[in-house]
Amino acid sequence: PLPPATPQYRPAYHFSPARMWMNDPNGMVYSQGVYHLFFQHYPEAMVWGPMHWGHATSKDLVHWQEQPIALFPDKLGWIFSGSAVIDENNTAGFGKNALVAIFTHHNDPEEKKKTNRHQYQSLAYSLDQGQTWTKYAGNPVLPNPGIQDFRDPKVSWNTAAGKWIMTLATKDRITFYSSPDLKAWTKESEFGEKLGAHGGVWECPDLFPLTLDGKQQWVLLVSINPGGPNSGSATQYFIGQFDGKKFTPASTATRWVDYGKDNYAGVTYANTGARRIFQGWMSNWEYANQVPTSPWRNAMTVPRELALRKVGADVFLTSQPVPEIGRALTAGSVKLQNLTVKPTLDLTGKLPGLGDKFQLKMSTRQLTDFALVLANGRGEELVIGYDKKANEYYVDRSKSGLVAFSDKFPGRHAGPRRATTPAADLTLLVDASSVEVFADQGLTALSELFFPSEPFTTLTVKSAAGLSISELSYSRLATEAK
Ligand code: FRU
Repeated sequence: PLPPATPQYRPAYHFSPARMWMNDPNGMVYSQGVYHLFFQHYPEAMVWGPMHWGHATSKDLVHWQEQPIALFPDKLGWIFSGSAVIDENNTAGFGKNALVAIFTHHNDPEEKKKTNRHQYQSLAYSLDQGQTWTKYAGNPVLPNPGIQDFRDPKVSWNTAAGKWIMTLATKDRITFYSSPDLKAWTKESEFGEKLGAHGGVWECPDLFPLTLDGKQQWVLLVSINPGGPNSGSATQYFIGQFDGKKFTPASTATRWVDYGKDNYAGVTYANTGARRIFQGWMSNWEYANQVPTSPWRNAMTVPRELALRKVGADVFLTSQPVPEIGRALTAGSVKLQNLTVKPTLDLTGKLPGLGDKFQLKMSTRQLTDFALVLANGRGEELVIGYDKKANEYYVDRSKSGLVAFSDKFPGRHAGPRRATTPAADLTLLVDASSVEVFADQGLTALSELFFPSEPFTTLTVKSAAGLSISELSYSRLATEAK
């Protein structure tokens, strides 16, 4: 029996499965006007278990329709994380424009006990836009050479190599493989043994190009668990060059895609042209199996557009919500100008129908300490702010309601401010039980869950130092689907 239902925590413009367990996004691909999001799914329980690939589709990256389960466990194992490509030239021979999924088979527990060879890479293909899938009879296509953690293949066509490149998490590093046909794989190189964060195992990588000042750079995403900047799961990135065989980083600094506790295993969609659209799993392995929702557990982040930006001599990866989100959040729109906060400003009455699913944007010409406080009549609050002395943005959910289900959940979690201008801007996306913070056009991102025992009904800005807000805008989802 499942715990009593918690519709109050169900997000409206984030994907969550109707029922049961979800973790990593998988096989994300844009095809014939439809975004396909597959996901790690256990349809029998609200906790992690024998993995399937669930499936959801969207035409606008805002409203999602759950589809029948795409991939079921088979005699080679459970279906772990992986990617999907459109095989335009029929390199694999499954058919022109076949959708091909490349995933990890995880054979648990029979072989695990005997060898380290229980994870290997396999294929499945669909000729009907992801409705039905056929597993390749020659699976696995990449057997395990004897590495305990050998998983999460992210495949894309590489023009320099003239081949498919697989970016694979191999314990404490990334291994690149190449293939002309998705079936025969050759090892090209390894990356990261002594670089980046190593507080946990490396998982769910991605490799893709982005342009900066007219020059192509390569971004390598690597999720690690544990060892994130605010403990538990998180995703680091490297920027450098990839020559078709080898990745060479331009900087050895450890950088994180998101400094909140709830954005893990994120990778990007295939086949979106010049747009680079990222989506992550909005949870953390420290407590993903305990969050107080029912009859489902966990949601995805909003899709985000990634870009590179220079700040002084540094180059950072920025992430901002895809514009589709802003275009869907237009109801009850309010725009306020030239507000002074000293020491507090209650916005509640100025934002009619505040609700718990909205977008808030705020800009200032002179950034100083401030705190935005969402609260309810029970003394519960969620605080989003900036600390000038530490030069960091933060989310404090210590007193945000239900927090005791895990001692790793409550707390204040911060990320460094990267922008150096006095002016700053902030976008908040609030959706029932999550907040995503994008500061300085996406130079700092923080994603966090919260579970108030009653919805938050007031919004107050606090600033002892005195904050001048040049513009503040607020809007809600026009049609609350689901
Ligand atoms: C990351 C991960 C992957 C694995 C999947 C299993 O969250 O551990 O490495 O493929 O989850 O569900």
